[in-house]
Amino acid sequence: MTVTKEQLRAATLLSRIEGRSATVGVIGLGYVGLPLAAAAMRSGFSVIGFDVDRMKIDKLEAGRSYIDAVSDDDLSDHMAAGRFAATDDFARLAECDAIAICVPTPLTKQREPDLSFVEGTTRVIARHLRKDQLIILESTTYPGTTDEVMKPILEATGLKSGKDFYLGYSPEREDPGSAGFETATIPKVVAGDGPIAAKLVAQLYGSIVKKVVPVSSIKVAEVVKLTENIFRAVNIALVNELKVVYSEMGIDVWEVIEAAKTKPFGYMPFYPGPGLGGHCIPIDPFYLTWKAREFEVATRFIELAGEINVAMPHYVMEQLAKALDQRLGIPLSQASILVVGVAYKKNVSDVRESPALKLIELLEARVADIAYHDPLVAKIPRTRKHPLLSGKNCIRLNRDSVSAYDAAIIVTDHDSIDFGLLGNHSRLIIDTRNAMESRGIICDRVVKA
Ligand SMILES: NC(=O)c1ccc[n+]([C@@H]2O[C@H](COP(=O)([O-])OP(=O)(O)OC[C@H]3O[C@@H](n4cnc5c(N)ncnc54)[C@H](O)[C@@H]3O)[C@@H](O)[C@H]2O)c1
Repeated sequence: MTVTKEQLRAATLLSRIEGRSATVGVIGLGYVGLPLAAAAMRSGFSVIGFDVDRMKIDKLEAGRSYIDAVSDDDLSDHMAAGRFAATDDFARLAECDAIAICVPTPLTKQREPDLSFVEGTTRVIARHLRKDQLIILESTTYPGTTDEVMKPILEATGLKSGKDFYLGYSPEREDPGSAGFETATIPKVVAGDGPIAAKLVAQLYGSIVKKVVPVSSIKVAEVVKLTENIFRAVNIALVNELKVVYSEMGIDVWEVIEAAKTKPFGYMPFYPGPGLGGHCIPIDPFYLTWKAREFEVATRFIELAGEINVAMPHYVMEQLAKALDQRLGIPLSQASILVVGVAYKKNVSDVRESPALKLIELLEARVADIAYHDPLVAKIPRTRKHPLLSGKNCIRLNRDSVSAYDAAIIVTDHDSIDFGLLGNHSRLIIDTRNAMESRGIICDRVVKA
């Protein structure tokens, strides 16, 4: 059997990956990219991290991490060993054998996929593309992005995918704030454009994470990620709807879920809340919705889930107004409110798409005074959706501050919040996370919403 030149070159790349002598480039050193870079370093690869944000590069060069999942020591050790460099010099992409792209994939103002980061990054890679490089997209996106958007840009260089360079897709599955999982222990779905690329992608991630799950095509891998997040968005919407219905009936949805989840099969608990947050669940489903239109297929479940989840901050505000009136005789317009927790999820400092920001914005226009406390968010950073909230400072949580407000709304139940203090000194607590009862704090001034 004759071996072609391409096969020989691919075999060389494969053995460089197996032997960890390959250099891995990671583009976009955020919540996904930096932990991936760290996992690759820990597996023995030399890693070059790329970002357009000079402040991040400066911090990394000084051995300082800005992501909880990656420690300063981890970075400094690998930098000292010459296994990690961070740069905004994209000419260094030519030094990389494999390049993982972890740039943002947000929605535009019209709630359509914004692929400008992926496209821009692909153009930069194309400028430095050389033979035998493996390019993998990690960003969450609609099926067809890698094949229909990235591949033509890369092939416009004259190099061909599957022959001169290799293209793949492998979605990220981070669970920020969760102690149980880290990049290396979460199974990773992998796919390539053609059999050689598929083998290379599987080998690369197989060297970094404990388990890889190969699928037959890049499109399948792209929708696996969307399917996971749509599943969450729809189930959270369902339980949010049940919360509203049961509340009218005087039934506590949290007690219902606790009992229902004792069923050992056919049920999986999802929890209600003040609305969806984070970079993924509120956004990703609409990547599929958009693409489905091209096929003239409606995505009614996804749209409906979006409607229900988006209505939650409004529902919480209504429940707050009702409780203020019925329990304290104070109209919403005269009330002072303390929002407890502004991160989108417990034990993380990330406020992207946080329902707390929406709630604060709604309340700022309606109440007399509003403040927030979040032990992990000292100041609200600038966000695209809520620019007017940027710079707002966290207040301290103590007996005086708690009792100075008519009501506290628990939006995020970080473990480090002193809920006992709230229980002892708040006049009214609107609890959107069942934070009080789940900690054994039973108090008749708590209203679940
Ligand atoms: N955060 C999560 O938990 C999570 C989980 C799974 C998947 N994802 C997906 O991963 C992707 C990245 O998300 P993230 O949360 O890490 O975002 P992030 O905003 O934390 O990080 C993105 C990084 O890319 C950088 N960047 C932007 N444009 C760039 C460019 N042209 N070149 C180089 N760097 C650039 C930004 O400066 C930033 O550091 C998104 O598609 C997201 O949907 C995120």
